Amino acid sequence: MDYVMVGGGALAREILDWFGPQFAKSGDRFVGYLDDGDAPMAAFGRDLPYLGKIAGHVPAAGVLLVMGIGTPAGKTAVGKALRAAGGRFATLVHDLAFVTASARLGEGVLVGPFANVSSDSKVEDLVTINGHSGVGHDVVLGAGSTLSCHVDLTGRVKVGEGVFFGSGARVLPGVTVGAGCTIGAGAVIVRDTTPGATYFAAPARKL
Ligand SMILES: CC(C)(COP(=O)(O)OP(=O)(O)OC[C@H]1O[C@@H](n2cnc3c(N)ncnc32)[C@H](O)[C@@H]1OP(=O)(O)O)[C@@H](O)C(=O)NCCC(=O)NCCS
Repeated sequence: MDYVMVGGGALAREILDWFGPQFAKSGDRFVGYLDDGDAPMAAFGRDLPYLGKIAGHVPAAGVLLVMGIGTPAGKTAVGKALRAAGGRFATLVHDLAFVTASARLGEGVLVGPFANVSSDSKVEDLVTINGHSGVGHDVVLGAGSTLSCHVDLTGRVKVGEGVFFGSGARVLPGVTVGAGCTIGAGAVIVRDTTPGATYFAAPARKL
């Protein structure tokens, strides 16, 4: 299978480094990347071909897209546009991650190294789970959300669409995180949050 990376920033480079070696073993490959900037990976010595802007891109038949954008708003907008243009997003799990058989992953979900997705959890479309993060049992993780590294969603947590979790954030069991929230690095969410708000610290409070 041929894959096209969507985005050329730091997260896209990380994702290339996660899955490139894995693809090499299975005969898959990244054929290039899209970005609305000007070939941003070139500055990092990457020789992956720059295929042009995301805006207006028409995905080729038989190619799968890999979401390399980390911001929920960016993922949602770009995901919608590229799907409307006929694109489909790959769901990829790193060889060093563990996703239990009873978990369900939507289209375009990425699970990074040492991450864990536990029993009966539901991860909706275009969710990015960065390395060392944990999705506990019976969690519902809303479309377009992003977990930075070392995030811990404990059991029965419900996350609305488009939530960004900073590094090391933690949510206590059964708590609901409202759609569009931003959760600061190291925050401990102990009760339900208001949609669209930013929370930080432990116990978390609204910014
Ligand atoms: C919470 C957050 C979103 C707030 O960002 P912001 O709106 O730009 O806020 P500011 O940086 O202006 O900080 C506002 C105040 O909150 C404090 N603060 C910010 N983030 C904090 C955090 N994670 N924990 C504790 N305090 C924090 C600041 O010290 C500042 O306090 P002050 O007013 O007493 O000086 C951001 O700081 C954060 O944690 N982002 C996550 C980053 C991350 O983990 N990225 C991972 C990908 S690399």
